[in-house]
Amino acid sequence: MSAPENAAAPETLSAPAVETVAAVEVAAVDKVFETRGGLVHALEGIDLTVAAGEFVSLIGPSGCGKSTLMRLVADLDAPSAGTITVFGKTPARARLDQEYGIAFQQAGLLPWRTVAANVALPLELHGATSADRKAKVAELLEMVGLADFADRYPDQLSGGMQQRVAIARSLAEQPRLLLMDEPFGALDEMTREKMQSDLVRISAETGAAVVFVTHSIPEAVFLSDRVVVMSPRPGRIREIVPMRFAGAGTAADDAGAAGPGATGGADTAARARRTEGLREDRSFFDMVTAVREALHGAPVAPGARGVETR
Ligand SMILES: Nc1ncnc2c1ncn2[C@@H]1O[C@H](COP(=O)(O)OP(=O)(O)OP(=O)(O)O)[C@@H](O)[C@H]1O
Ligand SMILES: [Mg+2]
Repeated sequence: MSAPENAAAPETLSAPAVETVAAVEVAAVDKVFETRGGLVHALEGIDLTVAAGEFVSLIGPSGCGKSTLMRLVADLDAPSAGTITVFGKTPARARLDQEYGIAFQQAGLLPWRTVAANVALPLELHGATSADRKAKVAELLEMVGLADFADRYPDQLSGGMQQRVAIARSLAEQPRLLLMDEPFGALDEMTREKMQSDLVRISAETGAAVVFVTHSIPEAVFLSDRVVVMSPRPGRIREIVPMRFAGAGTAADDAGAAGPGATGGADTAARARRTEGLREDRSFFDMVTAVREALHGAPVAPGARGVETR
């Protein structure tokens, strides 16, 4: 009874799993709404691949279909044409498998549950033990600055605080994908910058891919590997701008890291080193200008550099 073949096996088995399947793959997607006033072409010919671990922001004028696209990925609505996969699965399957966390424009909290119980909900659905849930919820509420509000109810909180509860909830399961639709829209500027830094850190630490909708160009630039610029009616992708930074504490510092390539990808190591200093960096303003020019479809006057347009 000798089984020497076992000896060689562990080496191949213990190789780190490299995530090759895309987090989100959107191919030739159209979305048409039938309304009493006629057909509304919300999205047309959308092609977008978000790599595992990649941070992609969607930016574009109000009504250009950003939320619609997010809802399609989250299986809250179905495309009129084209296909969407999430980690190679249908959006419906991915939802059942809890592949993603959601933080949308409306916080969507359950009013009869306390703050802590709202954050704990995804953990309950996944069968975490009571002790694990308590520890995780405490950690998340600390992170979003609401440790003292665990026992309050949503209607006792401000809009920005409710939004932070929703963000904590979306992170509870440490999903491989976060879908965030203007999650920081209701926050004051200081809290917003702190949440941006926290999100950069969390996404880098957990390796989660993020699809993030915002109206703020600097926010998109600070957070993203790539910024997807959309045009209105029907919503199309006008341009995809890769974020490239030079200087201390920024992505380009990392000369040795293999870049993800022109089609984008995750450079979580470089993202983890994004610090507050990046907001003052020359290359940051250059990227803000690049995104603004893509949005406007024309070069921006030099005097307008570094000024936020919303
Ligand atoms: N359920 C619906 N029925 C009919 N039309 C809809 C529906 N949902 C969205 N639309 C229309 O689709 C278009 C895109 O809407 P969407 O909410 O995706 O825009 P958005 O880019 O998220 O805008 P905002 O920046 O203001 O949030 C709009 O013209 C909107 O009126
Ligand atoms: Mg929207």
